Amino acid sequence: KTQYTIAVIPGDGIGKEVTPWAQQALEKAAGDAAQFTYVDFDLGAERYLRDGEILPDEDLERIKGTDAILLGAVGDPRVKAGVLERGLLLKLRFALDQYVNLRPSKLYKGVTSPLAEPGEIDFVVVREGTEGLYCGAGGAIRKGTEHEVATEVSINTAYGVERVVRYAFDLAMKRRKHVTLVHKKNVLVNAGDMWQRIVDKVGEEYPEVTHDYNHVDAATIYLVNDPSRFDVILTDNLFGDILTDEAGAVVGGVGYSASGCINAINEYPSMFEPIHGSAPDIAGQGIANPTAAILSAAMLLRHLGFDDAAARIDAAVEADIEELGSTTRSTAEVGRDILSRI
Ligand code: NAD
Ligand code: IPM
Ligand code: MN
Repeated sequence: KTQYTIAVIPGDGIGKEVTPWAQQALEKAAGDAAQFTYVDFDLGAERYLRDGEILPDEDLERIKGTDAILLGAVGDPRVKAGVLERGLLLKLRFALDQYVNLRPSKLYKGVTSPLAEPGEIDFVVVREGTEGLYCGAGGAIRKGTEHEVATEVSINTAYGVERVVRYAFDLAMKRRKHVTLVHKKNVLVNAGDMWQRIVDKVGEEYPEVTHDYNHVDAATIYLVNDPSRFDVILTDNLFGDILTDEAGAVVGGVGYSASGCINAINEYPSMFEPIHGSAPDIAGQGIANPTAAILSAAMLLRHLGFDDAAARIDAAVEADIEELGSTTRSTAEVGRDILSRI
């Protein structure tokens, strides 16, 4: 297969500024190896404020029919928090059963880490993407009264945990063969215990892969004082969200952090997006770093099997950062500099 349809959802804020560069990088890196047809989706705050629509069924169905999704970011200060995040972004992750949220962190030569002695940093967070506290199980009763009750319940199923655990061990086999489960099993004794038992069980099938465990609070320490200890970090939806922003900061900023929301059995399209948000504090200034979005395009190419094209983007980014990473550049300058190296 060489013809692919890519859904493009720039979304909000800097998502709109960085996504065109990711798309151009994708197109240029693919070269003659594949023909991509792009379908643009007008989804996000503007559409919602204009006609009240967040993710109409019709759009979702069209997205389901594509081969992959390139997404920028979602969220706007004019819209109540959660409306777009849940109604658009999480709805896509859940509807497309993107159970692996893959988030690599690598410290590139030329990037200044906030750590005095970062050492070599090269790990991947395998974050569960369809369960946990993100399910939306819960609610509010007696809202607005003194007796209000608000709940969010963390859903963890043996099926959902096992499939992401297997993904993490398979990934570790291709890397340095070490998995660290991060949870909070000293407090969350039900879910934590189940995660640990499933890791132990699956781990027996991978005798070459070592695995250990960190409580999430301790993991935040090790991420800053000894990040090179990590190879594959395996964790749940919320812990993974928090740890990957910290991981981004440790490798020089979330502007370098790409991600894939992956349906590993290819039943539905997978989605590739920077881990960062719409950054209202810098939106409109043309200064957002497009590198994370461009690296997400590389992850998309790798997912579709175009390893060489993906490697071309990775190499271009690596060379760009090594030479110019310490300079102050606009979004367009970084975009052009990287494109010229692909
Ligand atoms: P954010 O990631 O948008 O920004 C956090 C900080 O990082 C800000 O100081 C921002 O300026 C900086 N930053 C982010 N991306 C950058 C880039 N490419 N280059 C340079 N600096 C960058 O997180 P936030 O401020 O907590 O959230 C803003 C909005 O984005 C909210 O509505 C939130 O819900 C949403 N959000 C969406 C996604 C997503 O779509 N995947 C992810 C995170 C947050
Ligand atoms: C991310 C974001 C999302 C998440 C939000 C916007 C729903 O923070 O992609 O990291 O929590 O997963
Ligand atoms: Mn996040």
